[in-house]
Amino acid sequence: MTEDKNQQAPENPSERIRKAFEFEFERFSDSPETLLAAEDQLKKLLDLEVKFLGKKSELAAQKKMIGNIDPKLRRDFALTFQNLEKHIEQSIDDKRLRLETFVLRARVARESIDVTIPGRRPRPGHLHPITLMRQRIEDIFVSLGYAVEDDREIETDFYNFDALNIPEGHPARDPQDTFYTTDGFALRSQTSTVQIHAMQRRGAPVRMIAPGRVFRRDTPDPTHNPMFYQVEGLCVDRGITMAHLKGTLAEFVHRLFGPQTKTRFRPSYFPFTEPSAEVDYSCFSCGGPGCRICKWSGWIELGGSGMVHPNVLRAANVDTEEFTGFAFGLGIDRTCARIYQLDDIRLLFENDVRFLEQFR
Ligand code: DAH
Repeated sequence: MTEDKNQQAPENPSERIRKAFEFEFERFSDSPETLLAAEDQLKKLLDLEVKFLGKKSELAAQKKMIGNIDPKLRRDFALTFQNLEKHIEQSIDDKRLRLETFVLRARVARESIDVTIPGRRPRPGHLHPITLMRQRIEDIFVSLGYAVEDDREIETDFYNFDALNIPEGHPARDPQDTFYTTDGFALRSQTSTVQIHAMQRRGAPVRMIAPGRVFRRDTPDPTHNPMFYQVEGLCVDRGITMAHLKGTLAEFVHRLFGPQTKTRFRPSYFPFTEPSAEVDYSCFSCGGPGCRICKWSGWIELGGSGMVHPNVLRAANVDTEEFTGFAFGLGIDRTCARIYQLDDIRLLFENDVRFLEQFR
């Protein structure tokens, strides 16, 4: 039997498969630019592995056919397939290891914290000058045995006027014109409203102060603002006299401005007190001779005061035979403006941090 010289050895496809593999494999890099790119390459590497080594790969198909090959060539064929398979496996494993190492390092880098970078210093806030002033006033009265009352800013006519002995049509309503709602309410024009609420809630005796916002229909100017702060004071008990009022306010200014501070009471008129007085204290800056702060008078106005009018006690169901009382009302922002020598009270409400920062 002679060999058929025309019979050609079947072409070994391993070289073609290897080229196809190398062509696709070349696109994988050892050091991708980003973590995302590396993770993407890892996914694609898996696809490549399936394509060239999986059950449906050409290499798998060729290996199945190996039985059909001429036994003389079979060994060579098998060997090249084996080598190719090893080569592909090795290449993919190497690449995978590199990519995984890269991903791991990149993740660690991304999650690491550089503790040597200087921190950002948080800017601590601070209290508004009016709040500081209010707290100083509260501290003094609390230490004198007064409760601090907080009450509503939207009121009825009864609390803002009638119960305070200011009936409808009374001229004292005019300078206290305020902002009204359509259904019979108004923004309170004075903290004196809290006198009535406090007596209704607590009955007599009662000792309280009520700091809070009040509103008036004023055009803003350096000394006026449609919204400002007052502190109301009320002391009702058996045998309370004008002397208690004078002693209390004298003690208050001593604690606020120093024991050398003098007080002065000038007769005045308020519908809800009888008798009524304006209270002044000697200037905390010059102490009497006169300066810019007290406008050269030596005295600074503290607020209004007086003995609670019996009509007010009655409006709150307090027995006027048994009880008497005194009341006072001070302006917080006015006092604040004096102490800090502000030329314009509106500064307190503009929230300009360049101004507010100075009260740290
Ligand atoms: N409520 C008055 C006002 O806003 C201030 C005032 C004066 C309050 C005399 C009082 C007082 O308690 O006795 O102008």
